[in-house]
Amino acid sequence: MCGIVGYVGDQQALDVVVAGLARLEYRGYDSAGVAVVADGEIVMEKRAGKLINLRDALAGLPQPPATVGIGHTRWATHGAPTDRNAHPHGDCKGQIAVIHNGIIENFAALRAELEERGHELRSDTDTEVVAHLLEEETAGVTLGEAMRNVCRRLEGAFTLLAVHTADPGLVVGARRNSPLVVGRGVGENFLGSDVSAFIAHTREAIELGQDQVVELRRDSITITDFDGRPAKTRDYHVDWDASAAEKDGYEYFMLKEIAEQPRAVADTLLGRVGADGRLVLDEMRLSDQDLRDCDKIVIVACGTAFHSGLIAKYAIEHWTRIPCEVELASEFRYRDPILTRDTLVIAISQSGETMDTLMAVRYAREQRAKVLAICNVNGSTIPRESDGVLYTHAGPEVAVASTKAFLTQLVACYLVALYLGQVRGVLFGDEIEDVIEQLETMPSKIQEVLTTIGPVRDLARSLAAERCVLFLGRHVGFPVAMEGALKLKELAYMHAEGFAAGELKHGPIALVEPGLPVVVVVPGHGRKVIHDKIVSNIQEIRARGAKTIVIAEEGDDSVTAYADTLIRIPAVPTLLQPLVSTVPLQVFACELASAKGHDVDQPRNLAKSVTVE
Ligand code: F6R
Repeated sequence: MCGIVGYVGDQQALDVVVAGLARLEYRGYDSAGVAVVADGEIVMEKRAGKLINLRDALAGLPQPPATVGIGHTRWATHGAPTDRNAHPHGDCKGQIAVIHNGIIENFAALRAELEERGHELRSDTDTEVVAHLLEEETAGVTLGEAMRNVCRRLEGAFTLLAVHTADPGLVVGARRNSPLVVGRGVGENFLGSDVSAFIAHTREAIELGQDQVVELRRDSITITDFDGRPAKTRDYHVDWDASAAEKDGYEYFMLKEIAEQPRAVADTLLGRVGADGRLVLDEMRLSDQDLRDCDKIVIVACGTAFHSGLIAKYAIEHWTRIPCEVELASEFRYRDPILTRDTLVIAISQSGETMDTLMAVRYAREQRAKVLAICNVNGSTIPRESDGVLYTHAGPEVAVASTKAFLTQLVACYLVALYLGQVRGVLFGDEIEDVIEQLETMPSKIQEVLTTIGPVRDLARSLAAERCVLFLGRHVGFPVAMEGALKLKELAYMHAEGFAAGELKHGPIALVEPGLPVVVVVPGHGRKVIHDKIVSNIQEIRARGAKTIVIAEEGDDSVTAYADTLIRIPAVPTLLQPLVSTVPLQVFACELASAKGHDVDQPRNLAKSVTVE
């Protein structure tokens, strides 16, 4: 939440910073602003609304001759999304500009102190106190030193960047509980909430740790802890380039990312099976003994990642016989969960920065449980703070609604489950090989769904005037139904719910009225009992006038008579079916939102990477 860019070098700072903001806009689009240091002065421009408003404002102004700058795209927490509350914020003397991602929890007390000392605060934000605290602290010390002093007084989560007219070749950054990465260039250096901020300029990055301050000049990068001691950091090379974060001719990033799913799934499988057919997941960094000792698995995650965890539970319990709980990360630590040294906590997060999930990880580690992260962003906070990590290889996900990350999270969960089965000796080698072989066919099966998706798009457009859609599933189809409903809520702003089909008669069936569209995900014939039960459920809702949209495998003719619309997916083993059954639901939501004229990539009130609790 909130995108942050910093630049020091030889290029026009404004151009570099605004281009960086364009790549980070998915992190928040309530307002955008920039500050550069030009001719010994801070030049600041900010506008409520999307980046385009700032761009329009800048287009009418002369380009300031500046090679140092910072920029911000906001997801509002404190203060309405207005010009006044947009970042950067300044001090009383107009010498300092500050941008911030996170929440400063003790800002009210700090603000009262500052006002008592005569400072004039001009916004409703928590951020502005930092500019004024820096104003006081910089009397006598460097901006870096001042930042360290201020950070020690702040509570909560923050990434901060600041510039000061007294040292025009310097950007200072700081982080606690919110993301910040350094981009190392030649004669220029960068800061960003994530690498996409500077990927067009450099693929060499430095991961910053917790409670660190970075002083960035065109030819030096100095990183310390909040007490000024040199800090440990990790350099890494970004294995994708700027073109991966472009729309590439698609109308929306979401459509591009849906289309990339066959490749993302293939990449996530790549290199994880040895020549002898055994799974090799050394990068997980958890010892086989730890995995043998594990007597319970708890999966923590939010939103779409939570749905992947719900599906993983079916696979883990079926293949390994280890009890598995799945919990919303935001609820986890507040209910005093029972964790021991033998509990394996799996934290699933695309961004690796989701605050609720990060807090669950920290809580689990405090209880001495082992934590394995399943994550898409290399070097992000959650994997860094976990005992081990299995990276998904979806590539950058820019659309706010998660698609390819979800499918690759499923693949990673299947791999972890199979690996547990392998290490603990509860699965035979040929059983594992069978599933791996099936998984390896999934990219082409997903492609098949994409190639035949036209009727789903037509259906979505025909339902644009509806107010409510229900989704039903059983077994792994239940979380798929929840995921379909979440996509529709967040993109089409429609009332949508995903129910376990068997639960319908315990209450939700009262929602069914003539004409209500109900999407039903039908399991394959492989699970005859649940398959037949859901066919009965379809008849129950049809009898009450629902418009049935049935997603069923090729060759399953038992549903044809009860489907107002039939969407075919390839037949695959039941546990793997979500890899194909989710895809039409993603396209359905995307198309419906587009038919309603919504901004598919940047739905209202949302932001990618939720870095506040
Ligand atoms: C929905 C969506 C969100 C995220 C959730 C967790 O389309 O994208 O529900 O899945 O905010 O984010 P990560 O996976 O980054 O922890």
